[in-house]
Amino acid sequence: MFDIPFLDLPPMGGASGTVRLPGSKSISNRVLLLAGLAAGTTVVHDLLDSDDTRVMLAALEALGCTLERHGRTLHVGGLGGRLKVHEAKLFLGNAGTAMRPLAAALAVLATTQGGRFELSGVPRMHERPIGDLVDALRPLGCTVEDLGQPGYPPLRLSGQAGGTLATERPIRVRGDVSSQFLTALLLALPLVADARAVTIEVEGELISKPYIEITLNLLARFGIAVQREGWQRFTIPQGSAYRTPGAIHVEGDASSASYFVALGAIAAHGGAPLRIEGVGSDSIQGDIRFVEAAQAMGAQVKSGPGWLEVHRGRWPLAGITLDANHIPDAAMTLAVMALYADGPTRISGIASWRVKETDRIAAMAAELRKVGATVIEGADFIEVAPPAAWRAASIRTYDDHRMAMCLSLAAFNPAAGARVPVRILEPQCVGKTFPDYFEALFGVAEAAPEDVPVIAIDGPTASGKGTLAAAVAARLGYDLLDSGALYRATGLAAQWDGVSPDDEAALAHLAARLDLRFGHGADSGRTWLRGREVTDDLRLESSGLMASRVSAHPAVRQALHALQLSFRRAPGLVADGRDMGTVVFPAAPLKVFLTASAAERAARRHKQLIDKGISANIEDLRADLEARDARDKNRSVAPLKPAEDALLLDNSHLTIEESVARVLAWWQERGPFEAHA
Ligand code: DC
Repeated sequence: MFDIPFLDLPPMGGASGTVRLPGSKSISNRVLLLAGLAAGTTVVHDLLDSDDTRVMLAALEALGCTLERHGRTLHVGGLGGRLKVHEAKLFLGNAGTAMRPLAAALAVLATTQGGRFELSGVPRMHERPIGDLVDALRPLGCTVEDLGQPGYPPLRLSGQAGGTLATERPIRVRGDVSSQFLTALLLALPLVADARAVTIEVEGELISKPYIEITLNLLARFGIAVQREGWQRFTIPQGSAYRTPGAIHVEGDASSASYFVALGAIAAHGGAPLRIEGVGSDSIQGDIRFVEAAQAMGAQVKSGPGWLEVHRGRWPLAGITLDANHIPDAAMTLAVMALYADGPTRISGIASWRVKETDRIAAMAAELRKVGATVIEGADFIEVAPPAAWRAASIRTYDDHRMAMCLSLAAFNPAAGARVPVRILEPQCVGKTFPDYFEALFGVAEAAPEDVPVIAIDGPTASGKGTLAAAVAARLGYDLLDSGALYRATGLAAQWDGVSPDDEAALAHLAARLDLRFGHGADSGRTWLRGREVTDDLRLESSGLMASRVSAHPAVRQALHALQLSFRRAPGLVADGRDMGTVVFPAAPLKVFLTASAAERAARRHKQLIDKGISANIEDLRADLEARDARDKNRSVAPLKPAEDALLLDNSHLTIEESVARVLAWWQERGPFEAHA
């Protein structure tokens, strides 16, 4: 998860490998609500873990449902249609899939069993319409108060125990603004269909029908067999009651799949296809039909149950004209594929884009123009013509996960003969549905090494390089290479195997086969050698001393060279050591040589050791440091010295934050993007 102000994507030329999709948002939140309303325990497998599901889970918990996690499964103990909690304030973020169905379900429950519930969200949620749903609920006898703007959340739903609902006549709801209103009623009304059948009639042309299919499909799994007449009339039979299916599996998100289907069509041209696991030919999600649209643009797709394989076919892609009413979310991805087409692409039937996480038509038009596309927008369509000249663009994401994921595909511009980076602002917005999107993308994307930015930070021992490099890497979302750890690990392996620090050939043999693993994510900062954790061992003074000796052998340095180069992967690398800027990454666009006085470094090391409870003498430490400096500087291969084009940073009197800010400012000056506050 990249919780940083921006993420710079280098130009990436290819894609191959396998992506495992996270669970579907639409299915996850429906299943959670159904499990929460049903009697008994439902075991949910492969639930999506994202912002939108987290708010739903918090709401269910506040309502008295029991939630127990067992590895990748969640056990939900449902209410059996009986309110346990009669008053609650629920914060639902920007999750339409939580706001609309919970509003309907709680309105119905409060009216019949008594209660008072307030539903609110982030400011954008309070701009997303819910009036059509409220208009359907009020004639039923539900008390729904607008706590802000009429027709928008926040809402208060209340009632006295023993109230009844006027379900004898059909309940009418508009279907042409959002299909979520109908979904909300379909999910809520089985709660009151025991004595009498309940009919819902849709006014206006129903949009996004495939989402209603998901709703009906999941209702059936929970024991509710809705009868449907066309897309106009839906009847919940008398005697309906939620029954847990026992266990249910959430399939991968078909909308999330669209980014990788598009990626395959654009960049899987090296022979192997891009494989996508989690959704496939058996999907119940409407967005799976994005595949057909992608095929019309040129993608070659094979599919089976739970998987897709995508390959570039026709190239450049073909511009298409499509009414995308049936795939409203995934259609955004087509607008970005249009960057790689041979002519304009026109997507119509997308008026609903204007009331999503942001006004997606306006947002998409503005951001595609930044990369160079020509865009025409209308009330319910967008037309995109590919760039004549690509520009490095800083992309706003409008707190909309799909904007971030879509526009990341603009970084594959080498496919269109360009080579420009793309900056994605506030990339953490992908957390709404796909928290690990960028990790998944970098897992399959291929960039030419020379296109992957490297910041080299060299300097003497105890100068604070490691801390500085880690902080800069974290801030930019880049990978980190602590090259000293490779020499330290070689030294440690030599100790384990009883190899003499003077036996160059044996040491080089060890270095070439170093079975070293660096932790990522929750494990970042931890290191394993031959499967054994060596995080603390590597930091010992004795390991540093040993490293200093083994690193003086040219054959050892040579043996570790390729391993160091392999760290240069998208989105970028911060490498720290002695020769990052001079030998390993001589073309790095930013090289920093970090120094601090020997006295200052000795004092810092002294503090570090004392903090760890290790006694130390500052004069001895200083003498050790100076001896190591001398050895590192005077050795014949890759001696410690600043690269000619390195920028010197003496941090004797700087805090870590000041040093980080200095390096980031230098980095900013080298890039094509404007500074961001
Ligand atoms: O940065 P460090 O203290 O972890 O480095 C340990 C030793 O490894 C150091 O004395 C010199 C050597 N080293 C090197 O020669 N080249 C590098 N790129 C990194 C470290």
